[in-house]
Amino acid sequence: MSKVFICDHPLIQHKLTYIRDVNTKTKDFRELVDEVATLMAYEITRNIQLENIQVKTPVATADCRIISGRMLGIIPILRAGLGMVDGILNLIPAAKVGHIGLYRDPETLQPVEYYVKLPTDVQERELIVVDPMLATGGSANLAITALKNRGCVQIKLMCLIAAPEGIEAVQKEHPDIDIYVAAIDDYLNDHGYIIPGLGDAGDRLFGTK
Ligand code: URA
Repeated sequence: MSKVFICDHPLIQHKLTYIRDVNTKTKDFRELVDEVATLMAYEITRNIQLENIQVKTPVATADCRIISGRMLGIIPILRAGLGMVDGILNLIPAAKVGHIGLYRDPETLQPVEYYVKLPTDVQERELIVVDPMLATGGSANLAITALKNRGCVQIKLMCLIAAPEGIEAVQKEHPDIDIYVAAIDDYLNDHGYIIPGLGDAGDRLFGTK
């Protein structure tokens, strides 16, 4: 079974409070999401592989460690996932970015893939799928399936806020995927909003409504 990590660092929780606040304006909302994404990237990369090297300091030789193994890829689910990309790139500038676009079919209410553009070496990379809100889990599940269908094996999911229903759905369909969140909220309402949540993440990031 996949693990769920709650990133409960005080800085993340402090910033999340302002992200939730209805009075936080678009510019501040965007900056706060960016900052929280950076802090969460710090947590999510805690176990990446290191290798030993030696470097010469001005006075001696030092036994040191550098990152080795797989390079990273960031996969935002359009459009709200875009708001978390730069924050992760601040910490991991060499990561490549792939995009997955999904829309909700008005008849079936199921997410449908309309755009997938991935780095050519995506199968070799450790991937972080990002979407601020894990609501029903439908979009995250479809995005992860799209990656697996293209040969990707190392995938993590990173969201700001999750509903219990979304976590359960992802764990059911993708029991191999670890999920990183800043908070798990109470429930999904009848309109698919996470309660208490933060409203529509895409609208708040991009100032649309
Ligand atoms: N997507 C959002 O942007 N907000 C929610 O509460 C649920 C899904």
